[in-house]
Amino acid sequence: MSGTSVVTADLFEDQRAGREALAPGAVWLRGHAIDDAPGLWDGVQQVIAAAPLRHLITPGGQRMSVAMTNCGRLGWVSDRRGYRYETHDPESGHPWPAMPPAFAAVARRAAEEAGYAGFAPDACLVNRYVPRTRLSLHQDRDERDYAAPIVSVSLGLPATFLFGGRARNDKTLRVPLQHGDVVVWGGPARLYFHGVLPLADGLHPLVGAQRVNLTFRAAG
Ligand code: SIN
Ligand code: FE2
Repeated sequence: MSGTSVVTADLFEDQRAGREALAPGAVWLRGHAIDDAPGLWDGVQQVIAAAPLRHLITPGGQRMSVAMTNCGRLGWVSDRRGYRYETHDPESGHPWPAMPPAFAAVARRAAEEAGYAGFAPDACLVNRYVPRTRLSLHQDRDERDYAAPIVSVSLGLPATFLFGGRARNDKTLRVPLQHGDVVVWGGPARLYFHGVLPLADGLHPLVGAQRVNLTFRAAG
């Protein structure tokens, strides 16, 4: 039964490292960014001072309940014309604020830890959830190519992240994300459906009564 003991040893090691496989190519890195969180939170303040959070309109005309902004060379936007990346904030006409160096460093390190060395994000989407806000199941597929993974960093209140499969109706895992957790999905999982259940009430000591998620992409 040497096969069994190898698997057990691997699992043990994974648990110590706070690492959980969600699917081939997708990993949940518990607490991976916990020491970086205060610096990331400072960066978020600077980004939203320059490019305020706003509720985008979907192509179907619905106002998104998650408030969003971006930093980096490219920013994700949605309006009646569709979903896309833009170099400039459509609200101000200015380029998106630069990605704070600490942001890119955390994303790169997490990607490497998940098996994707050399990740160089050019886009960081900032999502702000207040209690009862949710994000319905979707794929991240507006990026130019899918070779690079998505790196998602959670700050603030806990949330239940749904991680599904290739098809919208595939069964979803419920992942209880906490402040400082990182999820990385790429390779065979790059286009997997995912979403966030309605946020519960609470008060986080650093971030307050909200959850902020940073998703890093190599978009262009
Ligand atoms: C996203 O899919 O863009 C965000 C996921 C999250 O908030 O955890
Ligand atoms: Fe997404």
